[in-house]
Amino acid sequence: MEKFLIKGSPYKGIKGTIKCNGAKNAVLPLMASSILFDNTVTLKNVPIGAKDIETMIVLLRSLGSKVTIFKTKKILKIQNKKKHKLLVKYKYISTMRAGVLAMGALLGKYNKCLTALSGGCSLGPRPIGYHLAGFQKLNCNYSLKKGYINIFSKSGIKGNNYCFPKVSVTGTSNLILASVLANGTTKLKNISIEPEVIDLIKFLRNGGAKINFIGRRTLKIDGVKKLNGHSHYVIGDRIEAFSYLCAAAITKGKIKIEKINPKHLEQELKILKNIGCSIKFGKSFIELKRKNKIKPVEIKTAPFPGFATDCMPMLMAVLTKSNGKSKINESIFSNRYMAAPELVRMGAKITIKKQKAIIIGTDKLNGADCICSDLRSTFAIILGAMAADGKSCISRVYHGLRGYSDLYNNLKKIGVNITKKLNG
Ligand code: EPZ
Repeated sequence: MEKFLIKGSPYKGIKGTIKCNGAKNAVLPLMASSILFDNTVTLKNVPIGAKDIETMIVLLRSLGSKVTIFKTKKILKIQNKKKHKLLVKYKYISTMRAGVLAMGALLGKYNKCLTALSGGCSLGPRPIGYHLAGFQKLNCNYSLKKGYINIFSKSGIKGNNYCFPKVSVTGTSNLILASVLANGTTKLKNISIEPEVIDLIKFLRNGGAKINFIGRRTLKIDGVKKLNGHSHYVIGDRIEAFSYLCAAAITKGKIKIEKINPKHLEQELKILKNIGCSIKFGKSFIELKRKNKIKPVEIKTAPFPGFATDCMPMLMAVLTKSNGKSKINESIFSNRYMAAPELVRMGAKITIKKQKAIIIGTDKLNGADCICSDLRSTFAIILGAMAADGKSCISRVYHGLRGYSDLYNNLKKIGVNITKKLNG
C-alpha cells in the first residue's frame, strides 16, 4: 500500500497551475448511461487515472460493453455490440457506490436486472430507498435475496411522477436513466441540480432524449424509442479544483486552476473570499492568492447551489489555521469528519458534536503520522501536512486515488515536498 511522506513548509506557500481533470462524479453516470445507447458513445476529458473510473470500466465490461481507453487523450469509447448481461456484482458496488447507476440504465434498456445492494461506507449509511421507491412508481417490482436486488418490470417501464423526499444526486441520475426510454411521460420533483447531473441531462438530450426542466427542481421526461451515440466533453471537476485552491489558501500561496467553470463553485468561492483569500476568475479558470491571516467562518453544507459536502473536509483543514472560531454544520452525511482526528494529531483544535464541528484556529500545526479513511478526508489530511512543521507520513492514500487523478504529480508540481513510500 502506498504512503505519502510530506515535509510541510508552513512559511513557503505553494505556487503553480493545475489543469483540472474531468469530473469523476460526472463521468460515472455518463459511463453508466452508455448502456442505454445502441451505438458508440465517446467521452472526452475523462480522469482515466482515478480508481473509480477504472472500476466502472471493469463493471461495464463485465456486463458486455466494449470499452476502449485512450489514456493520453483522456478519451473513453464505449460500444454495445450485443445485449448486456443483467447482473451487477457486489465487488463493484462495494468498492464504488456509483455502481448502483447501472441499475437505472439496465432497467431503462432491458426492464430488469439483478444488482448487489450497496451497504454503508465511511461517510455513514448510504441507502437507496429513494431510487427503489422511484423505480416502483415507474412500474417496477423488486425483491431482496442474499444481498442482491432483483428488480423488474413485467409490462415495461411506464412514465409516472416521483418526488424525492430529500435531494439525492445519484438517485436523480438513476431515475433519469430509467425514464428516458420509458413508455409515456415521467415527472421528477425535488431533483438534484448538481452540475454533474446537468452534464448527464445535456449528454442524454444530445443523444435524442426528451428531458426538460419545468421548474427549478422539476424535470419532465418524455420517453423516446432510442438514443443515438455521440461524443461529449465532460465538465471540469469542481471538487478537485476546490481542493487545490485550498492548498494555496492553507499555505499562504498562489494557484491558478484551469479548465474549470467558476459558476460550479460560486458558493465555495464566496466562502474562500470571506476567509481572506483574493480570487480572480474567468470563463474557465480560477486564481487564488492568500496574503493575510485566515479569518474564521460559519458554514452549513447543502445540495447545489449550496456549499458542497464534498468540499467541506478541505475547508475544515484550512480553518485549522484561522485566527478565531469557525463552525461547520454538515447536513448531508452523518460521518463526514474523518479527517478531524488526524488533523487534531497535528495540533489542530477541532471538536465534533454529531454533525457539527467547532474549529479553533491555531498558528502552528506539527507533522504527524496519519491514516486516511475516505476520499475527501485524504486531501484534507494532505492539506494539514503541507501546512505543518516537520514530516507527516500519510497511510491509506488509496482512498484519495479513487477520485484524484495525477494526485502525486500535481502536488509535486505546485511545490509540495512529497515522496512516495511503497509497501509500507
Ligand atoms: C453523491 O453521492 C456523490 N457521489 C458524493 O460524492 C457526494 O458527497 C453526494 O452526492 C452529495 O453531494 C457521486 O456522485 C458518485 P446522495 P450520492 O444520494 O448520490 C440520503 C465524493 O466525495 N439518501 O445525494 O450517493 C443520503 O443518505 C462522493 O466524491 C437517502 O436517504 O449521495 C444523504 O444523506 C462521496 N436515501 C443524502 O440523501 C436514498 O435513497 C444525499 O445523498 C438516497 C440518498
